[in-house]
Amino acid sequence: MEYHTQQLVVTRLPFFDERGEVSGAVAFVLLDDLQPLTPLVSKYRRLHQDLLAAKRALAKTGRSTRYHLGDFIGASPAALEAKRRARLAAARDIPVLLLGETGTGKEVLAQSIHSLSARSEGPFVGVNLAAIPENLLEAEFFGVAPGAFTGADKRMREGKFQRAQGGTLFLDEVGDMPLGLQAKLLRALQEREIEPLGSNQVVPVDVRVIAATSRDLDAMMAEGSFRSDLYYRLNVLEIKIPPLRGRRADIGILCESLLENICSGQERTEITDAAVVLLSQHDWPGNVRELRNVLERAFTMSESAEVLDEDTMRRVLPEPTSEPERLAEAPAETESTALDSSDIQCPDSDSSDSDSSDIRPLAEVLANAEADAIRAALARCRNNRTQAARLLGVSRSVFYDKLARLS
Ligand SMILES: Nc1ncnc2c1ncn2[C@@H]1O[C@H](COP(=O)(O)OP(=O)(O)O)[C@@H](O)[C@H]1O
Ligand SMILES: [Mg+2]
Repeated sequence: MEYHTQQLVVTRLPFFDERGEVSGAVAFVLLDDLQPLTPLVSKYRRLHQDLLAAKRALAKTGRSTRYHLGDFIGASPAALEAKRRARLAAARDIPVLLLGETGTGKEVLAQSIHSLSARSEGPFVGVNLAAIPENLLEAEFFGVAPGAFTGADKRMREGKFQRAQGGTLFLDEVGDMPLGLQAKLLRALQEREIEPLGSNQVVPVDVRVIAATSRDLDAMMAEGSFRSDLYYRLNVLEIKIPPLRGRRADIGILCESLLENICSGQERTEITDAAVVLLSQHDWPGNVRELRNVLERAFTMSESAEVLDEDTMRRVLPEPTSEPERLAEAPAETESTALDSSDIQCPDSDSSDSDSSDIRPLAEVLANAEADAIRAALARCRNNRTQAARLLGVSRSVFYDKLARLS
């Protein structure tokens, strides 16, 4: 029997009335001599613990974190400093702002902070501001009251804030947040309460906010597209994650760890020193995400399953990426010509080089052209993704999707 938090061994004797129904009972609690029952009691306790753990796991399904601080690989001073600050952030219930280019591990750190924090049993809810259409953002954030508008659900639709209750709300690409929503977010953070759409009641919320962006918030504040009061509210503890090209010393151990992950379950693949040196010379505009993609391609293209060598790397590494800068500085009439025609070889071009080594599979050429166009658009718009997407004529969500896969 469970009594408060104690498990007791109890014998109960029922009292029956004339009709044979139970009218009461007397219970004997075995207090001191549990010795003979020890195996049974400890088995019971173990099962009970398992049950609690399973219940906790179930409650967290879908909202738990994939990453822990050990997953953030890097031994360079800059990487160690980022980890040190993440540990600091985990120990305190304060807002955190993660700054770094795309693919530098902002999400990895955000999840790590959550899973190290006192809120780790609570939900981790991520929301990507760049991926949600502007007109849906408010409902996504604050939820919708029952019957708020014609066609609205009869039940309350929870917003991200409600779903993160007791846990962490990760605002990814916070620099892409429209000004109107910035004001509402600021209010929610100050008052610690939100008002679901179409409701006139406030709901108290208890969440820790971790925000991240690859954009230059200082410049955005200067031009008035990001509120400085919101900035100070989010930026209680700032963690800067340096781009990969700024910590090339980490490339070796990153390769080790990423390869282990890529070939999980299969024979282990090594990478030669010369291949690592070659990788260290690349500029990595897509940072660790790009490095991972390159290694994945090398792994699938490599002739030998055991080693990735320099030659394989040379084949899968993208061309040096000086194009975006060049395009960005080019005169206006070339604005939309992101695809550099020199990438394409024609039979009648007077190129004397007639062997076919320059011909690449069409899919690869197209993927490269797309990547170049995206980088060029980003460079031109100083990393403003909404503008870049507009320039390329795709929706923000399509753009973001492509950016995530960019290698
Ligand atoms: N320091 C790191 N150590 C190991 N993997 C990393 C690191 N940084 C990024 N990654 C990997 O790179 C990819 C992109 O990371 P992510 O956290 O989504 O970047 P961001 O949010 O900054 O764009 C993921 O696959 C992640 O596992
Ligand atoms: Mg991200």
